[in-house]
Amino acid sequence: MAKVKSAYYCRNCGAKYAKWSGQCTSCGEWNTLDEEIISKSTVKSNYKVSPSSVRKIKDVEFSPGKRFSLNNAELDRVLGGGLVEGSVVLLGGEPGIGKSTLLLQMAISLKNTTVLYVSGEESEYQIRMRAERIGIENDNTYLLAETEVEAIISASENLKPNILILDSIQTMRTAKIESSPGTISQVRECASELQQYSKQTGIPVFLIGHITKDGSIAGPKILEHIVDTVLQFEGDRHHGYRILRTLKNRFGSASELGIFEMQDTGLREVSNPSEILLSDREDDLPGTAVAATIEGVRPLLLEIQALVSPSPYGNPQRSANGFDQRRMNMLLAVLEKRSGMKMGVNDVFLNVTGGIRVDDPAVDLTVAAALASSYHDINIDSKICLAAEVGLSGEIRPVNKIEQRIGEADKLGFHTILISKNNYKNLARKDFKIKIVSVSRLSDVWKYIFG
Ligand code: TYD
Ligand code: MG
Repeated sequence: MAKVKSAYYCRNCGAKYAKWSGQCTSCGEWNTLDEEIISKSTVKSNYKVSPSSVRKIKDVEFSPGKRFSLNNAELDRVLGGGLVEGSVVLLGGEPGIGKSTLLLQMAISLKNTTVLYVSGEESEYQIRMRAERIGIENDNTYLLAETEVEAIISASENLKPNILILDSIQTMRTAKIESSPGTISQVRECASELQQYSKQTGIPVFLIGHITKDGSIAGPKILEHIVDTVLQFEGDRHHGYRILRTLKNRFGSASELGIFEMQDTGLREVSNPSEILLSDREDDLPGTAVAATIEGVRPLLLEIQALVSPSPYGNPQRSANGFDQRRMNMLLAVLEKRSGMKMGVNDVFLNVTGGIRVDDPAVDLTVAAALASSYHDINIDSKICLAAEVGLSGEIRPVNKIEQRIGEADKLGFHTILISKNNYKNLARKDFKIKIVSVSRLSDVWKYIFG
């Protein structure tokens, strides 16, 4: 006999409670607890494991899953060199960022590969319209508008596709559970059913997942544990560039990154990331500086723009796009205390060009330089770039992969790069064309760039 029990789950973080309350004590969100029925079996399991199922690790047959290319260098890269058979990939991103476009475009660009694209959000007509826009013909892409996992699996059993795509996991439901689609238990149960199906048949499955405003994959944080690979699609909807990041990968590196540009006819692969910088660069404006960053494992030059201007109402505003605002506040405090700049009476705005978000600490010095440049209203030579972290006492700290950063700046024709003294000491090669200036304090930087 099954006893029916219910519990309350937080839609945001997945925490479980026996009783309802207005606020989730785990993540602090209000009104996010949903009641869900959980049936608990009262039959005691008498599990016995036969001694032969416990094996030595070296006796387990080892055959790395077969991979196949998706005909898309950026997607292949973030997956660690192609899609692995029997793997489940979660593609997360905010609504409207281009998740459906990315996977539909991949599906129709794959010749001789049968793909079943299941949509619970859009009608077949809408998907057909999108395919028209992307504009490639393919006889092997199949559509199904369906939300029930069992029906999807049975359709997939008939068609036997090479790849199964579900758009999105939050619209799917399984008959096994009563709660409505999008709830934690539905999402979890659907994902694990699909995971089992994928493991049994070897058919790789893509799950599209919507992301909440704080950046976590909506409610289903739990999903991240079930799937093999988690990709996140991000960017600013008002800019063309999109970044595809690997957040987790059982079959490869989790620090890969793919770059795309959303165009009228779908997504274009951006194989040379520094084009983002070069595409909209104006010469020598006060308040701009260039950072030699590493995103994932790829060097990328980015322009930071800052505006520091007197605050008219005595209540200074702070805003940062693409950069952590708390980090910016820390840098402002360092500039105030160590370099005597009166930031406290100014409004401060900061932007990373191309609508890209960076969290590489090596951007610190560039942010500080852009802020100082705007504060003094003196421009920095547009052929200078910077790569270093800034410490609380204004010291310039070393960053990783410095040779790669220098190499990229060199390749793009910058004449000078400022790096930390400690990085300079340990440089394996110094034979770059670009001039390498080593700095140890903020005052050295100002002396060099502002004269
Ligand atoms: P979509 O893939 O529907 O986003 P998601 O599935 O992540 O919600 O695409 C979102 C946006 O992309 C939409 O506003 C229209 C735009 N778009 C283009 O700019 N060019 C195109 O070729 C396509 C198909 C879409
Ligand atoms: Mg979509």
